[in-house]
Amino acid sequence: MNTQEFATLSAASVGMTADAIRVRGGKPIHGRLQMKGAKNLVTKAMVASLLGHTPSELRSVPEISDVKVVRGLLEVYGVVVDLDGDTLRLDPSNVERAHETSINAHAGSSRIPILFCGPLLHRLGEAFIPDLGGCRIGDRPIDFHLEVLRNFGAQVEKLPSGIWMTAPNGLRGTKISLPYPSVGATEQVLLTAVMAKGKTELKGAAVEPEIMDLIAILQKMGAVIQVDTDRTIRIQGVERLEGYSHRALFDRNEAASWACAALATGGDVFLEGASQPEMTTFLNVYRKAGGKFEVHDDGIRFWHPGGDLKPVVVETDVHPGFMTDWQQPLVVALAKANGISIVHETVYEQRFGFTDALVKMGAYIQIHTECLGSHACRFGQRNYEHSAVIAGPVDLHGADITVPDLRGGFSHFVAALTADGESTIKNVGIIARGYERFLEKMQTLGVDFDVIG
Ligand code: EPU
Repeated sequence: MNTQEFATLSAASVGMTADAIRVRGGKPIHGRLQMKGAKNLVTKAMVASLLGHTPSELRSVPEISDVKVVRGLLEVYGVVVDLDGDTLRLDPSNVERAHETSINAHAGSSRIPILFCGPLLHRLGEAFIPDLGGCRIGDRPIDFHLEVLRNFGAQVEKLPSGIWMTAPNGLRGTKISLPYPSVGATEQVLLTAVMAKGKTELKGAAVEPEIMDLIAILQKMGAVIQVDTDRTIRIQGVERLEGYSHRALFDRNEAASWACAALATGGDVFLEGASQPEMTTFLNVYRKAGGKFEVHDDGIRFWHPGGDLKPVVVETDVHPGFMTDWQQPLVVALAKANGISIVHETVYEQRFGFTDALVKMGAYIQIHTECLGSHACRFGQRNYEHSAVIAGPVDLHGADITVPDLRGGFSHFVAALTADGESTIKNVGIIARGYERFLEKMQTLGVDFDVIG
């Protein structure tokens, strides 16, 4: 499926009837939005249900197309999935083999299929992974995942259509040290080790809040997982896991995105369900940039207090650092700040492609291959354009934009909100992969827009 086809599918699958919107910018956004479960937890929690002998229940599930893709895949394997409001019930009692063509047909452009490997090897003794998609924000290899699975005893065969895996002797606990604290590879270890024979020790683990929430789910299922302070996770494999009942952690990426939209447009939003501990690093940067926030029991209010925004120097990093998924909407707000800001992207090597459209709209942004932060990252001296210098304040003007990826796409939308005049945003369905009820939320916030097509 190409990007255009996927965008259309994404749009259709979440009730968006068109693939382009026309936005008339220049107005602050105001309103109250509800934050549902995190895309980057909910999809993994759905995969974890495969490990249970009894049904699982997941609450606060967002209406996003990634959830639909994972649901389709689970159904291909015989999991009975029922959605009631925002509660998903997943019954894996009759997990069965699936054909390559049905798996390919349902995988869409999600990267989640790679995480089915451990659970499927435990349940069926085999797994097939189609060619993986996801946002084009770097090479996004799966070498850590394959190495992890081989360590547990999986036999991996690469075919033109995808990757076949078997585990003729079952999966056994092992010692693994990740070269980089990868979120996906850490989840791969967790979802495989919980039912592998014996103990597993993972060093260099990612410890993002979404991973901690996945650990909470696995523990509810009966897993034995210990998290040490030095990025070491120890897992004692068990023979049987049960289903879980869990309310998903809120989507802090969505919350940061709307918070930046309020900052960039001079607006004021209350994000119901957002909580402080998972956003501490973001809140510090928001405050340094001149944004105001107020933490309530039921959410966080974010607003622009008036006057000039201030420039900041930010480096993206793994948790507890500043998330890579937060930088794109922040960059738009920084284009409005009075002075020179620097953003050093250290997680993905190619995540500034979205700035081309911002420059077209009048932003002053230069991208450099050097590490312009306080430490050299793995992308320095390797020709990767991974540091941005943003000079402001500038007035953005409307433009025709085609959304390149999820977070970049949201930042284009924010730019269109702040711009004078009209912008046309195409491929807008990609945004629906990760932003629930996107059009409805725009309406709630008073955005002046219409859907085209
Ligand atoms: N990496 C490898 N080899 C691997 C796996 C990762 O070199 O086998 C590299 C990646 O290329 C990247 C770095 O390690 O440079 C970190 O990648 P990671 O594995 O942590 O990312 P991921 O699991 O593929 C998840 C989120 C991303 C989020 C990152 C970082 C999901 C579905 N995706 O990706 O979210 O940016 O962690 O926090 O959970 C998004 O929501 O828009 C998004 C891209």
